[in-house]
Amino acid sequence: MYLSLISFSSLLFGISASPLRADRSAYWLLAGDSTTAPNGGWGDGFLATTVASGSSGHNYGHSGATTASFRAGGDWGKVIKDIGTYKNDHDVYVTIQFGHNDQKENSGVTVEQYKTNLKTFASEVKSAGGIPILLTPLTRRVFQDGKVVQSLAIQRNATISVAESNSIRWADLNIASENYVNAIGKAAAQKYNLAADDWTHLNEWGGVVFARLVSDLLVKKFPELKAVTKANATLSKAIADGVPA
Ligand SMILES: *[C@@H]1O[C@H](CO)[C@@H](O)[C@H](O)[C@H]1NC(C)=O
Ligand SMILES: *[C@@H]1O[C@H](CO)[C@@H](O)[C@H](O)[C@H]1NC(C)=O
Repeated sequence: MYLSLISFSSLLFGISASPLRADRSAYWLLAGDSTTAPNGGWGDGFLATTVASGSSGHNYGHSGATTASFRAGGDWGKVIKDIGTYKNDHDVYVTIQFGHNDQKENSGVTVEQYKTNLKTFASEVKSAGGIPILLTPLTRRVFQDGKVVQSLAIQRNATISVAESNSIRWADLNIASENYVNAIGKAAAQKYNLAADDWTHLNEWGGVVFARLVSDLLVKKFPELKAVTKANATLSKAIADGVPA
């Protein structure tokens, strides 16, 4: 069981087109590194193209951020403050996606600290009245011998383990994005690069495509999100079929 409020409202929604449920909207707070941030990540595409009318949010993704610097630099404080601002009028969801920088040798963040930091983020979101969702890190699109190099397995495992052992919602963006990039292949994947040789960051269309992949994952795992999501069946089908979008 997650938050009883959520179970309660999805129950209501299941029984009837309850006006109570129809009034609910989502406010999304996106916490993460450059793979979420404006100009390189999926966050802006998510807010611009997957969020239903009446819902909105803020992309707090920060280029170069680790789970430690995101707090130390003040970004996390803004996320928590925003939960207080928006929770009376919305269900406030906070996606938390890190790992690309935490994993660097000079990051100063061990895997154990990464796990502790994720756990603390999620528990602070809950205390503030929001709903945390841990996302495993977006895949890099670096190919070797025709396959995507899995370079984030430790961070993926760590994120899932924290989520499962603390009853935190999570979604496996890492594997979903890796599978999609493997399915479309290197030449199609390169079309999403922010610069021709940047196989990590996304250009604007890449941001829209991977935002849809995030949204589809979330709606599938947490069906009550369907009511606050704007669908794009064409794009969802391309992603599900593993063909270039
Ligand atoms: C991740 O977890 C899976 C299963 O829990 C395990 O088989 C795999 O070795 C782990 N990988 C890493 C890199 O820790
Ligand atoms: C839906 O996605 C397709 C690509 O799959 C795109 O061409 C179209 O503009 C999108 N529609 C909307 C309303 O965003």
